[in-house]
This record gives sequence, C-alpha cells and structure tokens, in this order.
Amino acid sequence: MEKQILALQIAHILGEEYPRNWVLNVIEIPKQESHGDLAFPCFPLAKTLRKNPNLIAEEIAQQIKHPVFHKVKPMGGYVNVFLDQTFVANHMLQQIFQDPAAYGSHEFGKGKSIVLDMSAPNIAKPFSMGHLRSTVIGNALANLAKKCGYETVKINYIGDYGTQFGKLLAAYLKWGNEEQLKENPIQELTRVYVEFHKAAEVDPSLIEEGRSWFKKLEDNDEEAVTLWKWFKDVSLSEFEKIYDLLGIEFDLTRGEAYYNNKMEGTIGLLKEKGLLEESEGAQIIRLDEEGLPPCLIRKSNGTTIYATRDLTAAIDRQRTYNFEEVLYVVGQEQTLHFQQVKQVLKKAGFQWAENLKHISFGMMLQDGKKMSTRQGKTVLLEQALEEAIKQAAKNIEEKNPYLEDRHTVAQQVGVGAVIFHDLKHDRRNDVEFSLEEMLTFEGHTAPYLQYAHARTTSLLEKGNFNPEEAVTSIQSESAWPVIKTLRLFPEIIEKAFKEYDPSKMAKHLLELAKNFNRFYAHTKIIGSDESQELLTLIYAVKLQLKEGLSLLGIEAPDHM
Ligand code: ARG
Repeated sequence: MEKQILALQIAHILGEEYPRNWVLNVIEIPKQESHGDLAFPCFPLAKTLRKNPNLIAEEIAQQIKHPVFHKVKPMGGYVNVFLDQTFVANHMLQQIFQDPAAYGSHEFGKGKSIVLDMSAPNIAKPFSMGHLRSTVIGNALANLAKKCGYETVKINYIGDYGTQFGKLLAAYLKWGNEEQLKENPIQELTRVYVEFHKAAEVDPSLIEEGRSWFKKLEDNDEEAVTLWKWFKDVSLSEFEKIYDLLGIEFDLTRGEAYYNNKMEGTIGLLKEKGLLEESEGAQIIRLDEEGLPPCLIRKSNGTTIYATRDLTAAIDRQRTYNFEEVLYVVGQEQTLHFQQVKQVLKKAGFQWAENLKHISFGMMLQDGKKMSTRQGKTVLLEQALEEAIKQAAKNIEEKNPYLEDRHTVAQQVGVGAVIFHDLKHDRRNDVEFSLEEMLTFEGHTAPYLQYAHARTTSLLEKGNFNPEEAVTSIQSESAWPVIKTLRLFPEIIEKAFKEYDPSKMAKHLLELAKNFNRFYAHTKIIGSDESQELLTLIYAVKLQLKEGLSLLGIEAPDHM
C-alpha cells in the first residue's frame, strides 16, 4: 500500500513524463535497515532533468507527505522513506481482524476458472516421485488460485491407456496370479510386465500378442475390457492410499481412456484444417515453422498416441470449463510434448491454446541420482511417507511425551515435512530427498513452522487471549520485523500464484517464523504493559502461519 502511495506522490512531483507505474518499478526495498523501508533512486532522472541525483532527491523528499511516512530523507541520490511503524501496524492489524479469513485474498480471479492437470500416475505402475511432485505442486497452485478468486478444477489425468496395456493383458494372462494381484496389485502388475519384456527378448512373437490384445481393448472386447478395468480399479485404490495420507482430493479423476471415442473428432478437425500429412503410413503434423519436430497424431497401424489424447482433452476441457488457463503440472522431461500440443492447437486456430501452460519441475534425487520407483521398489513412496510419520512420532515422543492425539500430530508433521521439502525449492530445480533434513525442527522445514505455530497457540492460551478483545494499536518497536513480514502476505500470495511458484510462500513463512521466534525470545509478553496488544499480534502470526501452511497443503496442529 505505502509503495503505491509513494509512487503516486513521486509521479505527481515528476510530472507526466514519469508515470506512476514507472516509478513503482523503480522503487526499491533497501537492504540496510538504516536506509529506511522504501527507497527511490534518482539516478535514472539525472540525464533528462540535467541535475545532480542528490539535488533531485532533496527536492522530491521535501514534497512527500502522508501519515504513513514517518521520515523522508535524501541520501546519496536516493529518497529514503521510513514508514510510520505505528500507523502501518495498526492499519494492518485492523485489516486482519476485520475479516481474518479474507486477509491476503484477491478478487482478480473472480468469475474465471483454472484447470489443473495434475498428479496423473499411470495405472499398473508405481506412483513415482515425479507424480508426488506434481500432486503437491498442483495442489498448492490450486489453493493459491482460489485465494486469488479463481474457480479451480483439479483433474487427475490418470495414465490408463496406450499400447503398453496390450502387453500387460498378455502378460497377466500368461504369468499373472489373482491372489497376488489382490494382495499387492502394483507389485504384481509390474512383475508380470517385467516378465513379459524379458520373455519377449527370446520370443518376439509376444510383441505381436501384446499388440493384438491392445487391438482387442480398442475394439471393446469383453475379456480385455474387464481385465483392464480391474487393473485400473486396483491401481486407483492403491493411489488413493497416498492421496489419503497427503490429504489431497481431486474434483475429477479422468484418465486418458476417457477420450478414446472423442479422438476421431479431433483427427477429423485437424484434417479439415489441412494440417495432417501422411508420412510412412502415419499421420503427422509438421511444426517446422515453430522450430519443433513433427507431432505424431496416428501411427501407421492406426492407433492414436499420447499427444492425440492430450489434444482431445484440451479441446474438451475448453468446451466444458471455458478456462482462463490450464496448468499442466508435469515434469520437465515432457517439455517438447507440451510445446507440440500447444502449437498444433494454435495451428488449428484455437486462440485459447496460448493459455495452456506447462508448469514443469525438476527431478527428485537420492544421493544425486534420479530416484527410481521401478522393479522391486514399488512401495517406495508410500514407505517414504510412512517412514516420515514414524520419525515424526519419535521426535514427538522425545519432546512432548504426553501430547494428546499423538498419532494425528505425527501424521501432520511427517506428511507436512515431505510436502514442504518439495515446495520450498524453486520447482524447476532438482530436489534431493532427505528424510533427516525434512524432519529437523531447526532447519527450513515444515516442523519448524508447525512448531512456531504451536508456540503461538500456547502463548495465546497462557495469556487467555480472546480474539474478540483484540487491540490493534501496537507500539512496541521490537515487533516491527514481525509486522513488516506479516503485511507482505497479500503480495506474496499474488506473486506465488502469478509466477506459479509456491516456494515464494514457503520462504515467506520461514521468514515470518524466524522473526516471530526472535521477537518472542527478546520480548516479555505476558505480564507486560502492552500484553493485550502483543497477544493480538501473536494471534495474527498464528492465523498467518496456519493459513500459509494450509495454502501449501500442510496442516498446523495446535500442540506438538
Ligand atoms: N501419466 C503421465 C506420466 O506419468 C503424465 C500425464 C501428464 N498430463 C498430461 N495431460 N499429459 O508421464
């Protein structure tokens, strides 16, 4: 807010040539506290105004006036502005207490919808770390979008179709064991699939067999469809266990197969637009002008592929949701695929194709290498989550052995640790998976934040704080760093959403917890003259930690 006021005043002083938005962009936040809270550098003006920056700064400084500015000081070519801490604090606390749930929300998404294509594991295969990243990042982005006013549609685009399912059917019928499949579905399906590939090396006719099973599946052969549905059901209920642990729900679980009978429509449309070209019996679309390799639409044996399904899904979603954007939360390795899908749709004349966005992310590493969930390690992810919960339980046992509801808290802490460890990094970077690092209470972790939150709760309880009796006129100088951080919340929400970057929120919360911990360590709260004011502030910290964590998909227990 003050930045806007300052920009407006400076623009007014400088005249038409320097509009408000230009000034707004130039204003900085000084690194050194002694340089104030905001600074406007005058160097860019020196040439046109033919004046020394120092002089310009002096002239501007004299003319700036507003109750929110406590002191305006020209310094080395800058106009340094010190905020009136009491004014700012009161204003912010009043805003928070007017409507606590609404603090930080925006209206710019009102009336618009955003589709999130996320999670998307493949049936009959283990839920990989990549799928975990997609789930967790997609969920946080959906929460942020909602907070900005958008309606969101979270779609779990299950990988449930493709030629590999022909092989899987053939493999299961040869080597499958029903009991095993019921007991441990993904492991059993992976086992027969691996078996199939081994055997096919010796006996290539198996490949043909796989193909013919896929053909049967495409032709709706009863046996093929029944088995495939079964594989799908058991896989989904395995995935459900992970979603339950993570506390994540979807608006729609709709896989690739849903689009089977809509694909001819897409191909017809592409043909009508004169985009299809035949190449060695296959149908392709050239993307030379776009600098991309051609997009395969239909293989020479008549089957459609991943891209055909994504094109169809995009068209269908546009019709159903009339979306503002679709966010495809998918690993970096699929960049080319999404570029092709987008360019094909653009070529077909769909302007909205511009609004398909690939929200890519890096890999999850273990000891510097890509984590594998293949063969034999099939329960890895669920195990990792269980392990995180177990270790969290152990930590709690040591720190607070009499805690009520220990089991729930351990789950919230363990799962929160895994989620936060992912979200605190820029999503484009690779992440090293380290349970130990995730779970420390001191580092940049969820438990650290949850612990700060629990601390606010116990302080409020000790002080018998009642939010109805909040006093929003705080004087304490030592509270300033906390206040300064608290008030960034709305801005952080907007930025994190607009840049599709939940790590902005993660970092903000770490900063808030750090400043709160310092404040709390150095300030007498209960029993001080200002105790009601300080408790009011602490309540605001509690609200924000809780809400911020919840935007990231993490719970904040009151006691831990
Ligand atoms: N199931 C795919 C995989 O595991 C990811 C699907 C991503 N979404 C999409 N619309 N293509 O690689």
